[in-house]
Amino acid sequence: MSEVQITFNGKKVTAQSGQTILEAAQAAGVDIPVLCYHPDLSAWGACRMCMVEVKGMRGLQSSCTCPVADGMEIETESENAVEVRKFVLELLFSERNHYCMFCQMSGNCELQDAAYRYGLDHFMYPRPYDKLSVDASRKYFIMDHNRCILCTRCVRACDEIAANHTLNVRERGSESMIMADLNVPFGESTCVECGTCLQVCPTGALIDARSAYGGREKDVTHTQTTCMQCSVGCTLDVVTRYNRLLRVDGVFGSDPNGGLLCVDGRFAPLYDERKRVNQPLVRRDGKLAAAGWDEALDLVSSKLKEGSVEGFTTGATSNEALQAFSNLFEKAGSKAGMLEAEAPVLGFGSVGTISDIAEADFIVVAGADPLEYQRVIGYLIHRAADRGATVAVIAESENKLSPRADMTVSYADADKVAKAAADAEKIVLVYSVAIKGKVMAAFRPLADKLSYIALSPARNSQGAENVGLTQMKPNGATTQLFLMGEQAEDAGLLDKLNGAFTVVQASYMSPLAEKADVVLPAPLWYERTGHITNLEGKVLPLVAVLPMPEGVRDDAEVLEKLAEIL
Ligand code: SF4
Ligand code: SF4
Ligand code: SF4
Ligand code: FES
Repeated sequence: MSEVQITFNGKKVTAQSGQTILEAAQAAGVDIPVLCYHPDLSAWGACRMCMVEVKGMRGLQSSCTCPVADGMEIETESENAVEVRKFVLELLFSERNHYCMFCQMSGNCELQDAAYRYGLDHFMYPRPYDKLSVDASRKYFIMDHNRCILCTRCVRACDEIAANHTLNVRERGSESMIMADLNVPFGESTCVECGTCLQVCPTGALIDARSAYGGREKDVTHTQTTCMQCSVGCTLDVVTRYNRLLRVDGVFGSDPNGGLLCVDGRFAPLYDERKRVNQPLVRRDGKLAAAGWDEALDLVSSKLKEGSVEGFTTGATSNEALQAFSNLFEKAGSKAGMLEAEAPVLGFGSVGTISDIAEADFIVVAGADPLEYQRVIGYLIHRAADRGATVAVIAESENKLSPRADMTVSYADADKVAKAAADAEKIVLVYSVAIKGKVMAAFRPLADKLSYIALSPARNSQGAENVGLTQMKPNGATTQLFLMGEQAEDAGLLDKLNGAFTVVQASYMSPLAEKADVVLPAPLWYERTGHITNLEGKVLPLVAVLPMPEGVRDDAEVLEKLAEIL
């Protein structure tokens, strides 16, 4: 990229060839208002808010689409440019319902900001007062067409970031409306509720059901932490006010997810209605009753001292807690392990990263269903398919990726996929526990151009593996300790307790906790400080967004304390 010399409002600036005028302006600290432009989406050039005057060029130019050229003299606030922006705003405010005082985005709206900037203080044109529909058919967010300015950021976000292609614009001119699929209610559409469209909407048209009216931007606190709902480890921007969780946003440009989230990271944990464990519980006269920490820990340590002890974890906790768990059982001379199996070691190819998916021309998904369990990986595979990569699914039967895969074959036909991949330049093999030897044998000869991403089911399986925890089955010890985090993994466990003294360290009550002799409360994901290791092996920070309730202690600290008094 070569440098070009331009001027903004008479001031000399060095820009890069290939940049748009808007990008050069932003790099130089020159503020040009925008509405349809978003830095993480392709330029659309439709709203005309960013018009600027370029000496020698006929008419005004949309700065978000017009590339810089050497010697350009650009006026960003010329009389003509300002007049056009005001006209655009007057039309937008007259077209639909923009009474800011009733809108949850007031104070945090790009349209409102532009209106203040250019001094709009009345409606210039007669207002049609058409009442458009409000679609509240999705659980987590609402579409109010009355506030929509048809900037199509949401459409482009759904196409380019989520690669889900749910949204589009129907009709023409003043009849234009954002629609889902072939104009079905949003809740009945192919929308996967990733919330990317919600995050990029510049107005109050897309409304988060939980945080609406919960606080303006100036009132809220933003904290970045890492999602603990699966092993991808997406970066989250958690928005809080008055010690209350309002909303979760993605962080565009961040590792490993680039701002893309799934419903499990953005919305679902904020709606978890399971009963929280807020203080230690000890079984007395057959019933679980509230107890102090000292009593509960003394009881647990006395049982641990008796020997015949086993520890099991879901891996839904921090590296620090897993390390403390492993240390405790080592000190007790007992065994500890994971409740779930981890994906097997492939033994060939190179360890892949999530960003490899964006560069691969052939993606094989074997024995894994990322759209079900590590959804952002699934969306990134969709994105790769959109840019022309071949996607092949190898599984017992079709899975959620199959409809957009180029082929879905059974394990018996793994060699056919390997044959199709032989001419590819960069292969990424995404696999999980169910991968079969036949797939490994078929792809081993392609090892020099293959990288792999293992999707183990446990949320922090890498963190567990790093401290030597592998899958273990209950062996009939007389005391069993379950480190559950906030995951309820009761399937099959209840039958295997066999009368053992059972200790459950968990954030929520569950059938397993109900049967326990001691329940120790654990923090939720947004109360944790520490780290997790994601499926790429990257150690990512957990930052406490809100304090733990008074009776709850960090599970790492509790396990260390138990080791101390053992
Ligand atoms: S969308 Fe923005 S401009 Fe429209 S009413 Fe809401 S705050 Fe006001
Ligand atoms: S939530 Fe995600 S999938 Fe649904 S319409 Fe918005 S961007 Fe598309
Ligand atoms: S819903 Fe929001 S992002 Fe989508 S077109 Fe309307 S204003 Fe733009
Ligand atoms: S921001 Fe440039 S045309 Fe909309």
